[in-house]
Parts: sequence; C-alpha cells; structure tokens
Amino acid sequence: MKIVVLAGGTSTERDVSIVSGTGICTALRQKGHQAVLVDIFGGVESVDWTDPFPETYDVDRACAYMKKFNDQIEEMKKTRRSFFGPNVLELCQKADIVFLGLHGANGEDGKVQAAFDLFGIKYTGTGYLSSAMAMDKGVTKEIFRMHQVPTPIGVSMKKKARINDLSTLNLEFPVVVKTCCGGSSIGVYIVHAQEEYENALDQAFSYENEVVVEQFINGTEYTVAVVDGKAYPIVEIVPCEGFYDYENKYKPGATRETCPAPISEELTKKMQDYAVKGYHALGLEGYARLDFMMTENGEMYCLEANTLPGMTPTSLIPQEARVLGMDYPGLCEELIRVSLKKYE
Ligand SMILES: Nc1ncnc2c1ncn2[C@@H]1O[C@H](COP(=O)(O)OP(=O)(O)O)[C@@H](O)[C@H]1O
Ligand SMILES: [Mg+2]
Repeated sequence: MKIVVLAGGTSTERDVSIVSGTGICTALRQKGHQAVLVDIFGGVESVDWTDPFPETYDVDRACAYMKKFNDQIEEMKKTRRSFFGPNVLELCQKADIVFLGLHGANGEDGKVQAAFDLFGIKYTGTGYLSSAMAMDKGVTKEIFRMHQVPTPIGVSMKKKARINDLSTLNLEFPVVVKTCCGGSSIGVYIVHAQEEYENALDQAFSYENEVVVEQFINGTEYTVAVVDGKAYPIVEIVPCEGFYDYENKYKPGATRETCPAPISEELTKKMQDYAVKGYHALGLEGYARLDFMMTENGEMYCLEANTLPGMTPTSLIPQEARVLGMDYPGLCEELIRVSLKKYE
C-alpha cells in the first residue's frame, strides 16, 4: 500500500510522536509497503510528484528532517495560518491510507480526522467525534458514568469558574488534578493538601482552560488495548518510584511493565470487559488503549481512553500484541486492517 505516516505536530507529545512515526514507517516498509514519514506541521520541502512513494527511501533521514523543526515550532505557529505543513494534504490525498502516528492536541483530538473526512483521506484509528470525546477527560467521565463504566468520582472545571474549596466539589484529599485534554502525564498532579492543590490548579491552568479534579485511587495501574472491539492482554504498570509520570513513561527501565498482568483470570476478564464497554460507550472504532487503576481489594476504575496511543516498538500495545504472537510490523499492519473497516 501507499502509506503516509504522519508524526510530529505541535502538541506537548511531539517528541514521542516522532519516535512512534519513525518506528511505524520503518516497520511498514519492512512489510513491503511504500510508506513515507511526514511531519504534519513541518511538512516536506519538495516532493517528486512523478514518484511520491519511492521504492527506496531513507526513514532515518526523514526523521532527522522532522527533528530540525523541534526548536522552531513556537515561532512557526505565530506566522502560519494552516496547521498542515507544505505538501502534507496533497501527499495524503495520494495515499491509500494515512497512518496517524500523532499524539495529543491537533492529531488525537478529532480535528485532523474531521478535516481528512472532508478531504476524502483515509486514516488509522477512530473517527472525529469519538476522538474528540475521548480526548476530553471531563466528557469521557460523563460518558463512562452514563454507561456504568467505573471511573474515579470527579469534576471538570473551567479556569474562570475555578473552585479552591474541595468540599464544594464533594471531594477529599488526596485528589488528582489534570489538564482536561493533555497526555503523557503532562499537567497531571497528585495532591494531598490545600496549598499543593492550589499550586496544581495554577500549573494545570497554565496549559489549558479546563482541568479535571478527581479522587486519587490508591492502587496499581493497568492498561488494556481494544482492537476492533476485542480486548488484548492487560499490561501491569509499576513505576520504580513515584507515579506513571512523563519520565517514568519514557525513561528506559524506570517502570516495570508486565504482560499479561499477573492478576486473576476473573479480574482480567472484568477489566477487559470494562475496557470493551468503555470503548463502545465512546463510540470508538479501530483501536484504542484504556488506562485503569485497581485497588488492593480489586475495585477498578477506568481513567481514560487513548485513541492514538504510543506506538514505538516498545510501547504498551506492541507489548500486548507480542503476547498474542504478533510482532511490531504485524501489529502496524493489523491496525491498518481494522481501521479500514470504518470505510466499509
Ligand atoms: N485518579 C487517579 N488516581 C491515581 N492515579 C492517577 C489518577 N489519575 C491519573 N493518575 C496517574 O496519572 C497518570 C496519567 O493520568 P491519565 O489520566 O492517564 O492521563 P494521561 O495519560 O493522558 O496524561 C496515570 O497513568 C496514573 O499514574
Ligand atoms: Mg493515561
């Protein structure tokens, strides 16, 4: 297939996205596809339109080209009108499918998906509405509640309606303060006291106009991929120190990730069922990865659904796929296969 792998972008997860995109593009080329790697925001300087998906192609060079923009993104944002970089839309329109290796705002939040629908461009992952709903942790919470998917009690709060008194929100310390539409644990704060709480609100509101405040769940963390409506094996996530913050997510060796999770068959089934229920509640298609916390006595809570989860070769879904006997390139192809179903 002719495939554009889109990565980079302008979100706080740009760096991770470049690693995901490079891995995906390399894997798809190994499988014999004519894949090219493109920064959705940086674009490509020039394209040979007689052969836009060349047989020989240097993925690492494309990755290096993308990284050159890293320090200029903020400046470029000021002068650019269109989010799409030079030649991006034209190239995507020539592809059989676009593999979205993007994470976070302007990529995972439904805007690109909606634009692509209008341009007639096919893409991996779920559609625009479910992307937008899953990106918003406040909306996700409401939907989960409506569909009896357990989630920590909490509220979303706008900057101009900030509430400093937790009792007004029917919450007690410890709580978690997080940006409504963040990712990679950027803008997530676990707080135990009033001063810490107010500082966390200041910080979170420096990223976004809306935050979620919810009950802290004291327990162990798990994550489950749902692909084409079916749950993959669960990963248990145990950071060596602290919680699963940015550093623990990406520093090699900082977190112990075990798949399949060493929990009973009964709890495994229950969590997988909740993951599938949460997936359908949000109207997700293709694939997603849902994050959970579980207490010692087996109470489980779904924190969120990630619609374009990390896809580096060592990311969580590739670990789950490996347990099913599927290697990383095989998984990349599988995600394309299930994503094409939404166009049937
Ligand atoms: N209610 C909670 N109780 C305990 N830990 C939490 C809670 N919410 C978030 N966390 C911790 O913060 C991390 C990031 O939160 P999450 O809601 O998954 O946002 P994101 O991954 O999009 O940044 C989680 O992986 C978990 O370690
Ligand atoms: Mg998460």
